[in-house]
Amino acid sequence: LKFACVSNDGIDEHMIWLIGLKNIFARQLPNMPKEYIVRLVMDRSHKSVMVIRRNLVVGGITYRPYASQKFGEIAFCAITADEQVKGYGTRLMNHLKQHARDVDGLTHFLTYADNNAVGYFVKQGFTKEIYLEKERWQGYIKDYDGGILMECKIDPKLPYTD
Ligand code: ACO
Repeated sequence: LKFACVSNDGIDEHMIWLIGLKNIFARQLPNMPKEYIVRLVMDRSHKSVMVIRRNLVVGGITYRPYASQKFGEIAFCAITADEQVKGYGTRLMNHLKQHARDVDGLTHFLTYADNNAVGYFVKQGFTKEIYLEKERWQGYIKDYDGGILMECKIDPKLPYTD
């Protein structure tokens, strides 16, 4: 089992993984237009942290780091159907936090969570209260009325992965 953070860089293996992840999102997020999923997963300003097992994608999180604002917006998050509720979603989020802090220099995440995923995000440390100053995120993330805006502060020191 491994965790990888990739973006659309033209490397064959990365492209195969991104297509696998796009297919998981399309199946697990049926309310999202497929073209929109493809566009963001393949967009070069987005990154995807993925769980890979036997060279197959089990799930992942696609996000956009806003380096100047030091926050990231999580666009999509999903684990393939037969591997859910086994702890992969939690490990994935921990890898994302570690990477976002140590590589991207981010301090917070924002996401529009689906109603049925709010419980998962709460367990990952997200809150419905937004403490981040509006000036830091307003105009950067789009309003979206299919979900609830949630925030997570990344601990500056905590080791999130082993
Ligand atoms: N609602 C409430 N609690 C949940 C949910 C949920 N939908 N999913 C998982 N949990 C809980 C688990 O019970 C577990 O609790 P515990 O630690 O007390 O045992 C904890 O969250 C972590 O569970 P994991 O096994 O790590 O989660 P999993 O691997 O299943 O990943 C995920 C969670 C990503 C939500 C997965 O279930 C999934 O892909 N669901 C369908 C797609 C989806 O809803 N994605 C999020 C949409 S919002 C967005 O993308 C911005």
